[in-house]
Amino acid sequence: MSTDHPDPGSTPVSQAEARPADRVIQLTLDGRVLTARTGDSVAAALIDAGIVSWRRTRKDALPRGLFCGIGICYDCLITIDGHPDQRACMAPVSVGMQLSTERRDATEGR
Ligand code: FES
Repeated sequence: MSTDHPDPGSTPVSQAEARPADRVIQLTLDGRVLTARTGDSVAAALIDAGIVSWRRTRKDALPRGLFCGIGICYDCLITIDGHPDQRACMAPVSVGMQLSTERRDATEGR
């Protein structure tokens, strides 16, 4: 019998309950240790830690964080392991990941 397909009598709930337990991992935001579960997005890990804003707009320094949650608006940009301007809602967490808040001033990059 193939294991590629779930039991035809199973339900979405029973399939979710049968999934291996998520592993708790650690990552950091500006040196602050956070925990997340494998499979979480960076944005989910930040929100779960009570962090709702992790960058500011260049012009008026307005706080930004998760907005669309599907990779379209680019409001959630963050530096991941030294790579700036990554979408937190699209990036999965990984063990030891180092996140940095975006702190450029209004004149940088012009
Ligand atoms: S929240 Fe819109 S791109 Fe990430």
